[in-house]
Amino acid sequence: MSTKIELIKTGIEGLDAILGGGFPLGWVIVVAGGPGSGKTTLATEFVVQGCLKGEPGILVTMNEPRNHVLTTMKNFGWDLLFLEREELLTILDYSATNVLYSIHKQGMKDGGPSLNFMIDQLQDKIDSTGAIRLMIDPLNAFSFLFHDKFSMRRELHKLFGMLAGRKTVSLTTLELGSSDAPFTVEEFLAYGVVRIYNKKIGRHRERSIEVIKLRGLNQERSTYPFEIGANGCRVYESTETFDF
Ligand SMILES: Nc1ncnc2c1ncn2[C@@H]1O[C@H](COP(=O)(O)OP(=O)(O)OP(=O)(O)O)[C@@H](O)[C@H]1O
Ligand SMILES: [Mg+2]
Repeated sequence: MSTKIELIKTGIEGLDAILGGGFPLGWVIVVAGGPGSGKTTLATEFVVQGCLKGEPGILVTMNEPRNHVLTTMKNFGWDLLFLEREELLTILDYSATNVLYSIHKQGMKDGGPSLNFMIDQLQDKIDSTGAIRLMIDPLNAFSFLFHDKFSMRRELHKLFGMLAGRKTVSLTTLELGSSDAPFTVEEFLAYGVVRIYNKKIGRHRERSIEVIKLRGLNQERSTYPFEIGANGCRVYESTETFDF
């Protein structure tokens, strides 16, 4: 059995260079950042770039309703409806409050059938579509279902294990209260962590991105300028002109 790590190129301009080639197949990556930092855009682009070269993908949206996701992403030129019709993309919408509320109630009783249903549904979709790239946005919506840290850690382990076992690359977004918020359980459990910063410099905010960890790999250890533009995300390898 080969133990060589297979890297999946993200296709996001400049990102693969700072990752050392891409994200490893079978890994769960946390993309963490504050509000509006660009988590959803980056994670969605990762899935869309895969679809555009024929790799099936899944978007799990826990906050933004499906229609909002379709409209927002159309602004970047990404036609998610078309990708769905071509059976390259599946959107699982868990944004309705009542879905999460019912899971939350049952989650108090040790996971509960609704939560298992959600994980099983995701697992079935990965198997039936052959999805390689996946996004869960945000992972907090999952973590918040648990009332104690032990249950949360155990269920996150279960979810991450299912994703890793299915040879996907999963980008799970994580909401942080501030750019330099303390590291979280989700980040410790994940195989890789990327943080996006949206710092106020003078009267403006500047986005930047840092690879915090990629277990067993030797990634770049700087913070790089990161931009969201009309065509999506872009990472700039040169840090010279930026003062973080
Ligand atoms: N076409 C565009 N050109 C430039 N910037 C854009 C464009 N569209 C969106 N943005 C920027 O992207 C930001 C939203 O990014 P995104 O939704 O990915 O952030 P997020 O980290 O997921 O936020 P949240 O925590 O609210 O979910 C907007 O606030 C805006 O600054
Ligand atoms: Mg978001």
